[in-house]
Amino acid sequence: MTASLLIAMHGNEPLSAKLADELHCELGQLETRQFPDGEAYLKFVSNPEARSVVIVCTLAHPNEKFLPLVLAAAAARELGASNVGLVAPYLAYMRQDRRFNPGEAVTSRQVAQLISEAFDWMVTVDPHLHRYSALGEIYSIPTRVVHAAPLVSRWIKTNVANPLIVGPDSESEQWVAAVASDADAPYCVLEKVRHGDRDVQITFKDMDRWRGRTAVLVDDIISSGRTMIEAVRLLTSSGWAPPVCIAVHGLFADNSDVLLAKAGARVVTTSSVPHATNEIDIAELLAGAIREVARDSVIN
Ligand code: R5P
Repeated sequence: MTASLLIAMHGNEPLSAKLADELHCELGQLETRQFPDGEAYLKFVSNPEARSVVIVCTLAHPNEKFLPLVLAAAAARELGASNVGLVAPYLAYMRQDRRFNPGEAVTSRQVAQLISEAFDWMVTVDPHLHRYSALGEIYSIPTRVVHAAPLVSRWIKTNVANPLIVGPDSESEQWVAAVASDADAPYCVLEKVRHGDRDVQITFKDMDRWRGRTAVLVDDIISSGRTMIEAVRLLTSSGWAPPVCIAVHGLFADNSDVLLAKAGARVVTTSSVPHATNEIDIAELLAGAIREVARDSVIN
């Protein structure tokens, strides 16, 4: 069987090169550009015929990426690919997981349906599973989820003395508990009320018994950054030293990376979304999951 062809959508080249290396498969070439009117032009320079194609596309700021991605998958099939998998280290649209107000679209379901129609399988890192317990509730293709918690714990153990792991809200407890356990550190969870996209209020009860430790805020996503920024403000205004902020996925809307740095926080993210704060590399972790989901018949 012909070896797999790994394709990087624009912006995913560094991670894709590492994955191709880990998986011992060819890093293929897909030429993309925009026509003057904004429509996408795609050309497979590497021939996908009779090959297993793996497309890598992290879905931070997804709207401009999504159409070229599904067009690439469809083109690969039309050119004879035997199957087409998706590696989306950050999986977008997972937070709209119910109809919060009448008439709203539950976009997590709709995006899941579109991806399931375009691809044969998918691998992702820590998707925001809050009201869903597993991707299988909304995805109809085989999926694998990899968890960054062990890598985050290892980073903390190596870089922070005497840490206290802090979750900014109850939703973060699943990551925070796992990270704290692996890092041999205590943890606590703050209370968050979200009034709007950029309006959150954070409070805590009693953190005094942990004084003297370095607070390490851990969350799955930094989007507008309001959650982390308010948590940093709360801690520093209560006499804590500026904390370390770790997110699996750093989306950094609204210049929130700059605002967090201004607030004194050290920000660390995984390489799921390319950014200067990527201190935790997920390539090896992803490669293991890709091998598993694609099985020997796909990646060889
Ligand atoms: C919330 O449900 C998530 O776990 C994150 O706390 C949230 O997405 C962060 O968003 P933002 O950076 O916009 O406050």
